[in-house]
Amino acid sequence: MAVVTICNENKTLTNIDEITKALATCDIDYERWTPSHPIADNAPAEEILQTYSQEIEDLKTRGGYVTADVIDVSPATPGLDAMLAKFNREHWHDEDEVRFIIAGRGLFHIHATSGTVLAIEVEAGDLIRVPRGTLHWFNLCDDRRIRAIRLFQDAAGWTPNYTSSRVDEDFLPVCFSAAHLSMTT
Ligand SMILES: [Fe+2]
Repeated sequence: MAVVTICNENKTLTNIDEITKALATCDIDYERWTPSHPIADNAPAEEILQTYSQEIEDLKTRGGYVTADVIDVSPATPGLDAMLAKFNREHWHDEDEVRFIIAGRGLFHIHATSGTVLAIEVEAGDLIRVPRGTLHWFNLCDDRRIRAIRLFQDAAGWTPNYTSSRVDEDFLPVCFSAAHLSMTT
């Protein structure tokens, strides 16, 4: 399950009801999906999409998404650093950013209109929907691995629009899972 940190309050949430409520105040949708049948996280993309087809169709209806795909990122991904550098600065998109995590982890920072910054560490089974226009940035965790379903309203339009706030520089992209591990080992 996700771990959410309200950075301004230095408060960490691990309870699903608290997480869902805190994210809803920033218009971020959060859900947990369970597969219709057991499936390996390295199964072919078509199988992954088929397994979650009901959830995907429901989301398409709710959000006007027209396509879904599976993105796979690992340390072996060519041009990984350049790819990550596109998204680790504060930006927004003309359409929603929707991700359902199949494997690995990632860290979204959301800069709400209230000024609050939320860090959302997502893992397998987490669905996150960041509405269009929301200021945010994204980092991988230390293992630099994530596999996720993406949904698009218009795949051609999904580009980052950068702000020049540099607010992202005030927040260390440290995953809770890594920090927790280092404390216990
Ligand atoms: Fe983004």
